[in-house]
Amino acid sequence: MREIKVGLLGLGTVGSGVLKMIQENGDKITNVTGQRITVKTALVRNPAKHEAVADSVTLTTDFAEILNDEEIDIAVELLGGLHPAEEYITALLKQHKHVVTANKDLIAAVGPRLAQLAHDNHCDLMYEASVAGGIPILRTIANSFSADQILEVKGIVNGTTNYILTQMAKQGLDYDTALKQAQELGFAEADPTNDVKGKDAAFKMVILSHFAFGTEVAVDELEIVGIDQLTKEDVAQASKLGYVVKLVGLAKVVNHGLFVEVAPTLVNQSHPLASINNENNAVMVTGQAVGDTLFYGPGAGGLPTANSVLSDITSTTKNLVLKTTGNSFNNFAQELGPADPKA
Ligand code: HSE
Repeated sequence: MREIKVGLLGLGTVGSGVLKMIQENGDKITNVTGQRITVKTALVRNPAKHEAVADSVTLTTDFAEILNDEEIDIAVELLGGLHPAEEYITALLKQHKHVVTANKDLIAAVGPRLAQLAHDNHCDLMYEASVAGGIPILRTIANSFSADQILEVKGIVNGTTNYILTQMAKQGLDYDTALKQAQELGFAEADPTNDVKGKDAAFKMVILSHFAFGTEVAVDELEIVGIDQLTKEDVAQASKLGYVVKLVGLAKVVNHGLFVEVAPTLVNQSHPLASINNENNAVMVTGQAVGDTLFYGPGAGGLPTANSVLSDITSTTKNLVLKTTGNSFNNFAQELGPADPKA
């Protein structure tokens, strides 16, 4: 058994969840991967704030301590935002470290470039946690729709706005009070502008579109409308007419092209998306063969998002061990070749 060492970039809500899960579920993870995974180092702004974990993890304010540590196999980027996350991930991949990230802003902006860099350096770049928090939607689309033609992906992919809209509808709260609650509960981004203006959902639709349709879409090309202009009266009026207001992301094949948008939508109360409440997310994937499928779960929050990060860490660990032991299918195929009947 190998010990796979992880470097964490960021020890906020999700980072702390990742550390907790690795420490508490270590035996389960070892059963699944065959390896022991430990967090060696965590990059933090203020080590004094993380004294509670200082005896089990090296805390540093210097990124180079993770970048140049040859014992660290996998780096987990949980800083968010474009910079310095992009520079850090670029440096890590060039240093042949596998990277797991939850950074939807970055993956939506430069995911294909980073994926190419990872490929060139024989590394994994994985980002299940970047879309819909705890719902394993990217690997589901990649694995379970591999032979079907996806026609449409639509859903509620932002927990903050869904929490706000639920509170406005069910408790009659006004927009500002509901937003404050979402921030206190830790669902919103540090600056909630991208959440409420629909941009966070747009980042996720860009990533979903890439997975579902193989299409590179730029966030600037999307129609994006947020929920920040909605009043509790709008929400109450919709309810009287038999609708629930939801911020819905849609990516749909139209006339040999792809239409992608994010907008507040009147959802009929009998539609499955109408019953998705609070910070929960749901993604409906429609395939030509399978028809409608619906994936539901918590779209934000420390442990649900950490669980998606862990699913990437364990997948990467399995790949890493296969690569380093040479037991991958590619190696066998290249090295053994077809049998020569005359030999
Ligand atoms: N702020 C995001 C949301 C967090 O509310 O969905 C998860 O991406």
